[in-house]
Amino acid sequence: MRREGLSGNRRIRIGLVTSNKNKVDEILSIISGSPLEIYWLNIEKLEIQSSSLEEISLYAARHAFEIARKPLVVDDSGLFVEALNGFPGPYSSYVYKTLGIKGILKLLENEGNRRACFRTSAALILPPLEKVFTGETCGTITYSPRGSGGFGFDPIFVPDGENRTYAEMSVEEKNIISHRGKAFKALTDYVEGLLL
Ligand code: IMP
Repeated sequence: MRREGLSGNRRIRIGLVTSNKNKVDEILSIISGSPLEIYWLNIEKLEIQSSSLEEISLYAARHAFEIARKPLVVDDSGLFVEALNGFPGPYSSYVYKTLGIKGILKLLENEGNRRACFRTSAALILPPLEKVFTGETCGTITYSPRGSGGFGFDPIFVPDGENRTYAEMSVEEKNIISHRGKAFKALTDYVEGLLL
């Protein structure tokens, strides 16, 4: 059966709109071996203010598509800390640049509840399709940073079922359990389905 006009294709090229080289590395590793070919699309990611990662990523993807007119994906992620009522969440990028890891640890200084979740929304535009894929991984915030791998808040996040922070894992190990790994695995499965 022919579906969505893509069956018969072997590979699909999709541009990734991001200024974060670490994300590119992670995503390339997640999709390796799949029919997806992701390349870095050098367009500025427009960031709207919203409490929803889905909305932010979809808006940015639509904006980028207006410029590039090519299939593309935008990843928007955030760290949601329970004791801070979900902060920094969608503001993670700004908070990382301003308060940083030290600032988050300071906010949690006398806090026993260390629960937090990372979330990713990956908005795919593959005309005529538009679809947002999400991934979530929960865990705990450490009392001090550990590890030198990864990026952002990786050194202070220990995913459930692990003793190591994301920053103490290889990219491949992080991808198996990470929020981004889950979102892009769902995206890859979806695109593979379209090719059947
Ligand atoms: P962005 O807006 O999707 O680029 O992500 C917002 C911020 O969240 C980034 O600047 C990072 O500090 C943080 N972040 C996003 N994803 C990750 C991750 O996988 N590990 C650690 N920090 C992340």
